[in-house]
Amino acid sequence: MFDPNRAVMTLLSPAGREDPYPIYAQMREHAAVIKTPFGGWMVTRYETVDKVLRSAAFRTPRGFRERDDPAGPPRCDPDGLLTLHRRYWLLFQSGEAHTRLRKLIMKVFTPRAVRSLAPRIESLVQELLVPVLERGSMEVIGDLSYPLPATVICELLGIPPEDRDRNRVWAALTVPTIDLQTCTDAQLKEAEVAMREWDTYIRVLLAAKRKQPGSALLDDMLAVEEDGVRLTEDEVAANATFLFLAGHETTTNLIGNGLLALMRNPSQLAALYANPALVENAIEELLRFESPVQFAPRVALEPLEIEGVKIETEIPIALALGAANRDPRRYERPEELDIARADPKPLSFGGGAHFCVGAALARLEAKHAFDALIKSTKSVVLAIEKVAWRPALGLRGLEALPVTIERA
Ligand code: HEM
Repeated sequence: MFDPNRAVMTLLSPAGREDPYPIYAQMREHAAVIKTPFGGWMVTRYETVDKVLRSAAFRTPRGFRERDDPAGPPRCDPDGLLTLHRRYWLLFQSGEAHTRLRKLIMKVFTPRAVRSLAPRIESLVQELLVPVLERGSMEVIGDLSYPLPATVICELLGIPPEDRDRNRVWAALTVPTIDLQTCTDAQLKEAEVAMREWDTYIRVLLAAKRKQPGSALLDDMLAVEEDGVRLTEDEVAANATFLFLAGHETTTNLIGNGLLALMRNPSQLAALYANPALVENAIEELLRFESPVQFAPRVALEPLEIEGVKIETEIPIALALGAANRDPRRYERPEELDIARADPKPLSFGGGAHFCVGAALARLEAKHAFDALIKSTKSVVLAIEKVAWRPALGLRGLEALPVTIERA
């Protein structure tokens, strides 16, 4: 008989990380809303996940707790830098505070700003591919899918190129603590130290930008105004670290997971070689098939019911995007990768008020990466038998992806 507790524990085990989809399928069939052994809820069906994402009856959880917080003791130092940043990260805001902050950020992070990056992204991909094509092999994560978005987000924010690697180290140390429920005490300690250095660095950079404004996103964030309201220094600093974090790890995973899915489905890889014009649709299908973000967290503003299940306030609700994306109620042949699938519309970028700010940028980076790879090679073949997935289930991505390639 299906045991929800066991299913959730299996999801968190190495077997679940390797292939969570059979477990998601059992969960989806069992019920629309499942109680987890950690006292929260998990929602797995497409329609229900979509409804909750768009509903004003829920908010994202707060990113921090005060010392005497009614919700329980804080996991990170309430006076520390990690707490300060999480207090202002856009994702953790709700209601009017979220609307105000998002409006100001969207005023500078415009579709035009993203479109203007296309030539630079294209040339960066070419640069990254030169040594790889000569070698005939590549480690996709280290050679392409990590440096591409990390470089782009630095340039977009206005972080000088010589500081890129320091920012990447601080980000890598902070990423494991995005989900405070699953990170370890040691990771929290390391992240606090990293965040102290990162925060100091960003504030020095902001001071220089105030003296001599440039034309990058951070300069715009310092200057942006709406009805006389501006972003505070804390808000700019915090959302600089958040945009950096949100802007690279996820896109790395889209390119890595996507290429792995194509190599594991050779007919689909062949279809893309035969018709590179399918690339944009292929990316939507790859987002559906191996969602880089697997969960979106929510809590209910008032006690309510989801599909007949009573949910109290402040109880964590995990919206399982990766499970929803393979719901047979929504998709024909959901377990099949089909890069020509009509209108995949996955929930991988979320939906509603918190819909991903960087979706267009991520799509653009992935498009250029896949396009260049397909056009400059005759074949791309997985060079190891078993791939290793990174430990965090919430962000689904590979440790490494070695491949051999044959130049076109
Ligand atoms: C394939 C790549 C990406 C994926 C799969 C992804 C996924 C997501 C998801 C699922 C959410 C919503 C979370 C929720 O509702 O709880 C989100 C929010 C967000 N993403 Fe992305 N993201 C990607 C790339 C990016 C990039 C490149 C940036 C910025 C440069 C970015 C910035 C953000 C921001 C700022 C939010 C918060 C929006 C808000 O709370 O209003 N993301 N992303």
